[in-house]
Amino acid sequence: MSRTSLTLAAAIVASALVPVSQLHAETDAETLVNALNAVFGKHDGVRSAHTNGICVAGKFTPSADAASLTKAPHFTAKEPVNVIGRFSMGGGNPEAPNTQKDNVRGLALHFDLGNDSTTDLVMISSPMFIARDPDQFLTLLTTVATKDKEKIGAFFKDNPSATRQGAWLNSHPIPASYSTVNYWGVHAFTFINDEGKKQVIKYKALPVGGEVGLSDDEAKSKDPNFYRAELKEQLAKAPAEFTLTAILGESGDPTDDPTAVWPEDQRKSVTLGKISITGLEDNKTCDAGVFDPTNVVDGIDGPEADKIFPMRSQAYAVSFSRRAQ
Ligand code: HEM
Repeated sequence: MSRTSLTLAAAIVASALVPVSQLHAETDAETLVNALNAVFGKHDGVRSAHTNGICVAGKFTPSADAASLTKAPHFTAKEPVNVIGRFSMGGGNPEAPNTQKDNVRGLALHFDLGNDSTTDLVMISSPMFIARDPDQFLTLLTTVATKDKEKIGAFFKDNPSATRQGAWLNSHPIPASYSTVNYWGVHAFTFINDEGKKQVIKYKALPVGGEVGLSDDEAKSKDPNFYRAELKEQLAKAPAEFTLTAILGESGDPTDDPTAVWPEDQRKSVTLGKISITGLEDNKTCDAGVFDPTNVVDGIDGPEADKIFPMRSQAYAVSFSRRAQ
């Protein structure tokens, strides 16, 4: 068994099993959310994934170059656009420790387009997701829920692309803060500019002050929930800023598989603007709805053949309807 699968197995708590008969029969959103609950426990009133999080507010200022790629209103705005954001730890453990190495951090954003309308961007701190499609994700979750190390090891052996995210996280330091790590949109989106020109892109947000990580030893001395106090202290001094970029895809770059990574160092990228997180926001603001990656606007299309992408919208709606009850 790989280190990744061992740590994953150790990190999760199974409370119930999803019947094997459900495997692949219908990988629908309800089944996926049930499977997440089976791995991480069912917790009333909270998200089924990325449960431990902090709501924030700020602004997005588009760059002069963004309009050459897309006519989307937040990328062509003349004035900064208000944003509501949420930083989070991956997984459905409400107390997922901020010191965990093999777990993604999330950054979700609502861009305020006026007239009660928003568009969303949802990113994680690794360039890839753990599963290629909903079937593979369900099999992963149901296998992990068994807590059977042999079965979990066999899954990762049979599904090597599902080991990429864990390997990537384990080879990078633990982020010292939610605001000192890179985030990726993972999926391939298509930008359309006002001349109708199309460009396939992937989002990447880079902290303006650069990445700062902790060694495994440094993390041991930290409180497991240290990100909130750290962020509060930081925001009292200055905004937490990220440069949002579009990595430009080239012919042959996969657009249907969120476990596949483009060779970023060989791709051009364009600065789309600056995300400036200025303060903490009441969690109720973030919990009142969902950050839905499929909530795009004219000038941005989601990936057509990526099966994870539309499933996210459905799964987030299921999670929302349960936590809102
Ligand atoms: C089929 C695959 C996936 C499923 C079933 C799934 C499931 C979920 C669920 C149930 C939630 C909680 C939604 C809510 O209650 O508002 C969530 C949140 C989230 N997911 Fe996923 N997810 C999937 C794929 C992804 C991918 C590919 C990414 C990569 C960007 C991602 C990043 C996030 C983030 C950052 C959040 C937190 C959003 C927030 O702060 O409200 N997820 N996911």
